[in-house]
Amino acid sequence: MEKKNYIITLGFIIVLVFFGIWFLAIIQTTPSEEIHIKPVAKHKPEPAAKVEPEPAAKVEPEPAAKVEPESAAKVEPEPAAKVEVKPAVFDIVPLEDQDCAKCHPYAVKDINERGGLHQSIGCSECHLEHPPLGKDPIPTCEMCHDPGEAAHYNIKNCNACHYPHYPTEMKFGEINSAACLSCHPDQGKEMEAKPSEHAGLNCTECHMVHREWAECADCHTPHADEMTHADCLACHKPHSPKAVNYAEGIPNNYCACCHEDVGTALASSKKAHSEMGCIECHESKHMAVTQCDGCHDADLHGASMHERYPLCLDCHNNPHALAE
Ligand code: HEC
Ligand code: HEC
Ligand code: HEC
Ligand code: HEC
Ligand code: HEC
Ligand code: HEC
Ligand code: HEC
Ligand code: HEC
Ligand code: HEC
Ligand code: HEC
Ligand code: HEC
Ligand code: HEC
Repeated sequence: MEKKNYIITLGFIIVLVFFGIWFLAIIQTTPSEEIHIKPVAKHKPEPAAKVEPEPAAKVEPEPAAKVEPESAAKVEPEPAAKVEVKPAVFDIVPLEDQDCAKCHPYAVKDINERGGLHQSIGCSECHLEHPPLGKDPIPTCEMCHDPGEAAHYNIKNCNACHYPHYPTEMKFGEINSAACLSCHPDQGKEMEAKPSEHAGLNCTECHMVHREWAECADCHTPHADEMTHADCLACHKPHSPKAVNYAEGIPNNYCACCHEDVGTALASSKKAHSEMGCIECHESKHMAVTQCDGCHDADLHGASMHERYPLCLDCHNNPHALAE
């Protein structure tokens, strides 16, 4: 009786073991991929060699050491050989530039359409690493734009003006004028040499977009309604507006808007001066005056008469309204 029980039990155990092995075999062949894939395959024998080229040094040491002891121990005994092969193939493939589009379509689109000279650079020439393995996926500009090469490459915070995927499209925000002066030193020198209220403004208050500028009338009321932006510039320089120098062809009403009485006197005079432009006698800059003998012979009426009446205006009254 005891022997019979023993045999039955033994038979039962054998059957159990058999089923156990069969069950294990099934698990190993089908769903195993998903479960066991990662740690073992990646950091074991061959992969190591392949992974090294790029993120190598940093990444390898720790994970390899950590992973092997536990998970390796569990899996290795029986089906090891089978499992290692598959995931190895699929984990090791390095990222190529054509892969980026699968997950970052907008970055690729931006560069292709608006990248400028950065189009000639592959994604992975700038992005040397990729998370989670790579801790430093964002490049610095100075990797390629050597600060020793130009004053401009020494500015901090390149991203305040450039977005690297479309580096030439710039919308200036609140930025320091020093950045502009690194390429346009002359305007800074002009502001320093001829101080004015404009020197206290940030460049970008007038230049919101590169190579463009605001109109004077955006901030000021013109002296005369009909004055255009170009007219303002005929008298004022934008970076040193205090010194007024006249360009050619300024009409009399652009002076008369401030000098109303003189304008009226000249216009209503019946003498030859009323045909003249203000800037013929007030040449080149504000407040300048050309005296009578700049145009007329100082001895016109004979030396003895001029000795007695040295001032022309003693008799001719006023340059703008000559005595009738
Ligand atoms: C399989 C999808 C996938 C592919 C292919 C892929 N990436 Fe990524 N990338 C991601 C994910 C997901 C993240 C976010 C990871 C995180 O935040 O930890 C990411 C993050 C990044 C980052 C970091 C962003 C940040 O704000 O720090 C950069 C840069 C990057 N990828 C560039 C690339 C480049 C270049 C390529 C092609 C060489 C590429 N990626 C290919 C999925 C992908
Ligand atoms: C000239 C170097 C350079 C090139 C080329 C470049 N990137 Fe970038 N990329 C950067 C920098 C720098 C940042 C960080 C920008 C920031 O944070 O303002 C960045 C950011 C990213 C980000 C993070 C999210 C975002 O849009 O800010 C992703 C994703 C990315 N790049 C993918 C790509 C892909 C894909 C390519 C190729 C089509 C590519 N990059 C080409 C320099 C570059
Ligand atoms: C991997 C190298 C690399 C990196 C990193 C890089 N650049 Fe460039 N960049 C270039 C090259 C190459 C050019 C082409 C012009 C040249 O030869 O200088 C260029 C051109 C440019 C231009 C002119 C683009 C045009 O179309 O005229 C700007 C602006 C620029 N880079 C800004 C940046 C900024 C800002 C960063 C940092 C976010 C940066 N770059 C990072 C390589 C790089
Ligand atoms: C204040 C805004 C501003 C900042 C900050 C700035 N840039 Fe620029 N950058 C410009 C402007 C404006 C241009 C001229 C673009 C043009 O010619 O149309 C330019 C042009 C460039 C160019 C192409 C012409 C050249 O001189 O090679 C490169 C490269 C460049 N910048 C790199 C950088 C780098 C690198 C940084 C950070 C160290 C930086 N920029 C910071 C505004 C800026
Ligand atoms: C990297 C060098 C660089 C930087 C930085 C830069 N510029 Fe320029 N800028 C240029 C170049 C190059 C031109 C074209 C010059 C030309 O056509 O003679 C230009 C042209 C201009 C013009 C138009 C000139 C004209 O006669 O049409 C203005 C205005 C201007 N920049 C203002 C600025 C301001 C404001 C900043 C700062 C926000 C700035 N720039 C930053 C290089 C730069
Ligand atoms: C972004 C606004 C802005 C623009 C655009 C602007 N200005 Fe001004 N300007 C000012 C401010 C602010 C002051 C100082 C306060 C005041 O006098 O209104 C000033 C002062 C002046 C002064 C007196 C300077 C002094 O030191 O006493 C003159 C002249 C002047 N502007 C002329 C011009 C001309 C000409 C233009 C066009 C080329 C112009 N401004 C464009 C903001 C601006
Ligand atoms: C008050 C407004 C204003 C301010 C502030 C200003 N600009 Fe200008 N800038 C102008 C105007 C307007 C022009 C166009 C002049 C013309 O058409 O002759 C101009 C022209 C320029 C030019 C083209 C060459 C020239 O001198 O005509 C450059 C470069 C320039 N500005 C750079 C700068 C820089 C750099 C700063 C800051 C240091 C600055 N600007 C501040 C209004 C301004
Ligand atoms: C015919 C020359 C001339 C023209 C054109 C001209 N200005 Fe003036 N502007 C002057 C003179 C001269 C002064 C100095 C007045 C003084 O000394 O008080 C002046 C002063 C100013 C001032 C200092 C504040 C004030 O009103 O006294 C501003 C601002 C100004 N001009 C803006 C402009 C603007 C904006 C335009 C174009 C719409 C313009 N100017 C066109 C000659 C001119
Ligand atoms: C924005 C107003 C304004 C405009 C425009 C203007 N002026 Fe004046 N001008 C003045 C003011 C204000 C004074 C008085 C300054 C003082 O006495 O300190 C003055 C003074 C003068 C003087 C007197 C110099 C002296 O020694 O007493 C002359 C001459 C003159 N302007 C000529 C002109 C001419 C010519 C124009 C046109 C090309 C012109 N002004 C445009 C405001 C203006
Ligand atoms: C034929 C030459 C001539 C013409 C044209 C002329 N001026 Fe004068 N202007 C003078 C002379 C000379 C003086 C100095 C008078 C003195 O020393 O008492 C003067 C003085 C002035 C003064 C300061 C004294 C005052 O009378 O207020 C102003 C302002 C002035 N001119 C504005 C103008 C304006 C504006 C125009 C054009 C509408 C104009 N002038 C056209 C010759 C001229
Ligand atoms: C920029 C040159 C210029 C200046 C300065 C100038 N004039 Fe004249 N003047 C003329 C011209 C041109 C005429 C008309 C042709 C001629 O008679 O020579 C004229 C004409 C005259 C006439 C004759 C007027 C007529 O209708 O018969 C008198 C008088 C005269 N000027 C006096 C003066 C006096 C006085 C001054 C100084 C306050 C003066 N001029 C300054 C250019 C000038
Ligand atoms: C003593 C008074 C007096 C003085 C001083 C005087 N003039 Fe006259 N001037 C006259 C008279 C009178 C006429 C002739 C009447 C007329 O044409 O208005 C005349 C005529 C002129 C004429 C126009 C006649 C012509 O020959 O074309 C000019 C120009 C002239 N004067 C310029 C001057 C100048 C310049 C001065 C100063 C250097 C001056 N005058 C000083 C009284 C004077």
